[in-house]
This record gives sequence, structure tokens and C-alpha cells, in this order.
Amino acid sequence: MSIKKVGVVGCGLMGHGIAQVAAQGGCTVVVFETAEAALAAGLGRIDKSLAKLAEKAAEKGGSFDAAGVRARITGTLAKADLADCDLVVEAIVENLDVKKTLFAELGKLCKPETIFASNTSSFPIAAMAEASGRPSRFVGLHFFNPVQLMKLVEVVRTDKTDAAVFEAARAFGVACGKTAIACKDTPGFVVNRLLVPYMSQALLMLERGDASAEDIDIAMKLGTGYPMGPIELTDYVGLDTTLSILEGWVKAHPNEPAFTIPKILASKVAEKKLGRKTGEGFYKWQGDKKA
Ligand code: CAA
Ligand code: NAD
Repeated sequence: MSIKKVGVVGCGLMGHGIAQVAAQGGCTVVVFETAEAALAAGLGRIDKSLAKLAEKAAEKGGSFDAAGVRARITGTLAKADLADCDLVVEAIVENLDVKKTLFAELGKLCKPETIFASNTSSFPIAAMAEASGRPSRFVGLHFFNPVQLMKLVEVVRTDKTDAAVFEAARAFGVACGKTAIACKDTPGFVVNRLLVPYMSQALLMLERGDASAEDIDIAMKLGTGYPMGPIELTDYVGLDTTLSILEGWVKAHPNEPAFTIPKILASKVAEKKLGRKTGEGFYKWQGDKKA
């Protein structure tokens, strides 16, 4: 089962990166968005990233075929263009009902062999797999932000995932340049089960006034060697996405004390301060950098 043509649904923070690394891995990629502006913004991010990778390669005396990679990526506003993909990876808003509706549609639209994958941060893969009508051909492919630089992909199997489908998905992750680890379909898989409660505890610390955002971030960078502190990381991930993850978990697992929603997070989202992607969250941002 070899994956040559890949569909990506959503060209936001994650989708643009997934489309790009799939093309870097040699696949033909069609990336679907619901609106022209969102598609143009996502493709613009790909162009910027490819230019940066080419510049870095040249600095080291090597080369990087940015134009060749870009030529393998097509943007579309027509869902029908996904029909003949070998694999479709979903990277849309973190809302289970919206994802289930999408997979129910894709299940009817795509050829019977198409493998489906969700990049969800937190929802059960099995719930989307059932909605798609083809649970044996469904996996989680959880990439990390920024996709172009982070070296991991979690490959998630449910009780119904076909072994050959899992292996094809794992091989695709490796072709994208990632180290692939296998996970069961548990809340947050490996990374987010540890990372999101840590981010939430840091926000509760900020809410209590135990330390400033800057000091919490400096503490974790210098005290533990993390590349970013937890508050900056929440801005980087997106406050809306972080809130949706926690809300889903609190609803599904009300007795798990590690799953707590800081008020400060909900209030920032209500103010539409979503982090780096809107220019302000707990910090102010100019493009990709903290202002
Ligand atoms: N494409 C190409 N190049 C890129 C890029 C991209 N998308 N993003 C950054 N770069 C380039 C930068 O331009 C920079 O180039 P120069 O050296 O020429 O300036 C270089 O890569 C390094 O970037 P930075 O200067 O920003 O330097 P950094 O060393 O701080 O690395 C980082 C950035 C990799 C993001 C690092 O800060 C990091 O690892 N942060 C933690 C990220 C993390 O934890 N991600 C996981 C989030 S959780 C998640 O994803 C799961 C979920 O479900 C929520
Ligand atoms: P985002 O808000 O940056 O992008 C989502 C994109 O999906 C938007 O461009 C939006 O227009 C599009 N979209 C929404 N509904 C759609 C639909 N029905 N059909 C097609 N496109 C649609 O979000 P993101 O941060 O890229 O997150 C996407 C997914 O990846 C979520 O499930 C999230 O939990 C997961 N994820 C996020 C991160 C992160 O750090 N942000 C990391 C790993 C996984």
C-alpha cells in the first residue's frame, strides 16, 4: 500500500506544514480550504517556509529544491478534488462534531482504498473512524507545530485499524522526514497527555499571581532546557486550540484532576486573543516573533 497522492484538509497552522512536508517527501499534494483567503494565507506560509529552507541550505553550501516541492502542491476549494487521494489528512478546527461531519462526507466521496487520518490534538480517533464509515482504514497522524521543524509524528491506531493501513501511515510519516512512534487511542496520545496539563498548570500559576508570564517561561527554559516556556508555547499552539483540547477532556473525563481549564485562558479566547496567529495572546507577536 503505497501513498503517492495526499489530500490535506485545512491549510492553517498545521495543515500548511503537513502539506509541505508531504510534498518534500515526494508526494503529490492537494490541500483543501473552505475560503479563498484562508487558502491563500496557507499557501503563502508554505512559500515563505520553502524560501527559508532554501536560504538555510545555501548558507551551508547545499541546495534545496523549493520550486520542485512547491510544484507538487495544489490548493483547492473543491472537496471533490480529494476523491482519488491515497491518504487524506484532516487538520481543521479542534471540534469533534465538525470533524465527524467532514469524515462522514469524505467517506462517501473518496475512493474505497483511501486511508483517512486526523491530526487531532485530543479527540478519540475511533469516534471519527466510525463517522467515516471505514474504521479499518483510519489512523491518527499527530504532527507537531511547527511541522517543518519538529521531528516527531505520533501514529495512532484504534482497535479496528488494519495492520497494513497502520504500516502505510507510519511509512508516510517517515517519508515526511519524521520519526514515527506508535500510540494507542488515548486522550492526548503521548505528548499532549503530558504537555497540555503542564501548560494548564503554568496558566493557573499565572492566574494566582505566583510569577509573571516572563518569569515562568524563563524558569522552564533555563531550569529544564525547554526551547520555549509554557506560556509562550500556549501562544504558539493557539489559545483557542488549547481551550478546545481542555474543554473536550473535562467533558469526557470530569474526574481527572490533571484536566483543568484556567479562567485566564477562557477569558483571553473570549477576547479573541488567540496567540501568535492573531498577534496577541499572553504576549504580543509580530509575525512569527514575540514583539
Ligand atoms: N519553516 C522553515 N523555517 C523555519 C520555520 C518554518 N516553519 N520556522 C522557523 N524557521 C526557521 C527560522 O526562520 C530560523 O531561521 P534563522 O536561523 O535563519 O533565523 C530557524 O528556523 C530557527 O527558528 P527560530 O529562530 O525561531 O529558533 P528556535 O531555535 O527558537 O526554534 C522552535 C524554533 C523549533 C519553534 C523552537 O523554539 C521549539 O522547538 N519550540 C517548542 C515547540 C514545541 O514544543 N512544539 C510542540 C507544540 S505542541 C503540539 O504541536 C501538539 C498539539 O497538538 C498542540
Ligand atoms: P488553525 O485554526 O490554524 O487552522 C484550521 C484551518 O482549518 C483554518 O484555516 C480553517 O479555515 C480550516 N477549516 C476549518 N473548518 C474546515 C472545514 N470544515 N473544511 C476545511 N477547512 C476547514 O488550526 P491548527 O492549529 O492548524 O489546528 C488544526 C488541527 O491540528 C486541530 O485539530 C488541532 O488540535 C491540531 N493540532 C494543532 C497544533 C497546534 O500547535 N496548533 C499541533 C498539533 C495538532
